[in-house]
Amino acid sequence: MTRKNSDIDRVLIDEATIQQRVCELAHQVSEDYAEEDEVLLVGILKGAFIFLADLARQLQVRHAVDFMALSSYGLSGAASGAVRIIMDLRQPVEGKHVLLVEDIVDTGLTLDYLNKTLESRRPASLRSCVLLDKAARREVDVPIDYLGFEIPDVWVVGYGLDYADQHRTLPYIGVLRREVVSFDHQDR
Ligand code: PRP
Repeated sequence: MTRKNSDIDRVLIDEATIQQRVCELAHQVSEDYAEEDEVLLVGILKGAFIFLADLARQLQVRHAVDFMALSSYGLSGAASGAVRIIMDLRQPVEGKHVLLVEDIVDTGLTLDYLNKTLESRRPASLRSCVLLDKAARREVDVPIDYLGFEIPDVWVVGYGLDYADQHRTLPYIGVLRREVVSFDHQDR
């Protein structure tokens, strides 16, 4: 049975639905990369850590895993676009088939920055696998190659996603109760 936390208003995507979709995505990725020697999965911390772990374990293709962490400070405010790397990959991506793994695309600024940054390092290919797309908040048009779910413009937590670094380990995607969201974040 799904645990429900008191900060959560409702379950948006339950655990079984997530697991089924992750399985489908892994199947699709495995088919598409079947001819390649290896895929480099690049998880974007922190939010992607659970999605990446589940996706990677369902893949039927040889793969390696690496991580990046970005600062998203100011993404929704006046300093919009100020993305910077706080932890880079441990390996060069030149000549490799890179699959970016993200929990959510919101404004698109993070994925846009990642695409430009990694493309300049000359990978053999660069695609993205994203669990959630909050398309209503998009500011930059970014391609998503593999998508789990499109969601409405509500504050979601669980399955890697947080509010103030909490709720990341909930097994479902839940909508945060509005009273829990601090005044600073009420516009999201
Ligand atoms: C979230 C998410 C994406 C980014 C998407 O990260 O994991 O990386 O925001 O937003 P955008 O499309 O508006 O750029 P967050 O900054 O919340 O960090 P976290 O993953 O460490 O929680």
